[in-house]
Amino acid sequence: MTEEEYGLFKDLIRREFGIELKGDKRLTLHTKLSHRLAILDIPTYKDYYGYIISDPSKEELSNFISHITNNETYFQREMARIAVFNGLLGDIKKNRQKKNQNRVTIVSAGCSTGEEIYTLNIMLMESGLFSWGWDVNLIGVDVSRRALRKAVNASYTKNSFRTSNGNDDFSRKYFDLEGDLYVLKKPYRSNVEFRHGNILDPSFLEGVGAVDAIFCRNVFIYMGEDAIKRIVGNFHRHLLEEGYLFIGSSESLLNKTDLFIPEYREGVIVYMKNPRRSSGE
Ligand SMILES: C[S@@+](CC[C@H](N)C(=O)[O-])C[C@H]1O[C@@H](n2cnc3c(N)ncnc32)[C@H](O)[C@@H]1O
Repeated sequence: MTEEEYGLFKDLIRREFGIELKGDKRLTLHTKLSHRLAILDIPTYKDYYGYIISDPSKEELSNFISHITNNETYFQREMARIAVFNGLLGDIKKNRQKKNQNRVTIVSAGCSTGEEIYTLNIMLMESGLFSWGWDVNLIGVDVSRRALRKAVNASYTKNSFRTSNGNDDFSRKYFDLEGDLYVLKKPYRSNVEFRHGNILDPSFLEGVGAVDAIFCRNVFIYMGEDAIKRIVGNFHRHLLEEGYLFIGSSESLLNKTDLFIPEYREGVIVYMKNPRRSSGE
């Protein structure tokens, strides 16, 4: 892969997905894409770039990005945030009840292989707050079709239980061990839906209705300021007035936006939607 070819892909990834390749990732990109070129029988990276951008269906763009993204995730990641969210469930329920609504919607934006959204679903079910008469929707969105296929299968190796190696009450209670695989029990998959989508796209949650909380953790670390601003605007538009945004422990929106108000809860920053600001679209 030449410098020029690398530059083309770098711009494409930034333009389409907001992801900034930091440092020199030319060799990484070459390794990740060479197999794809062989399958398609395309001689050069420049030709492959032309092939991607000339495809109006964006099918190859979607294949391409599935090879590029970092899909690192695991169950019960950064539990301090999940615990704070658990403490907010009562408020979420009351907000909906005040509006005479019996629907709750939680989104994992950049859900990867599903561990985050399933952790949230288990927590919601265990809370017992939304058991009867509630329409509960948990939606995982990701650009990587590869990751989403795994998410739908809900079948994991012990690597997905990074903190316990699969030897804890969590994995024993909610998973069936089939050989080396931990298969999430059926009831804990209910309410969960996965969508292929790009969170940079203003309509990535089209048709979903107002959302109570969005988890977008460990996604902004790969993005530039402009992309983060656009995505935060998209989240603002999709959230209820009282909606919450959770980002990763190594990420921050402080001094980057006035669309959300940071609040400290038990050592964790939760971003509350600022209903007095408009996201401009
Ligand atoms: C490191 S994983 C984080 C998974 C999970 N949120 C967590 O914290 O464990 C980042 C995910 O974001 C997805 N992603 C990156 N850019 C995206 C975009 N523009 N739209 C949707 N998903 C994106 C990647 O495909 C990847 O699966």
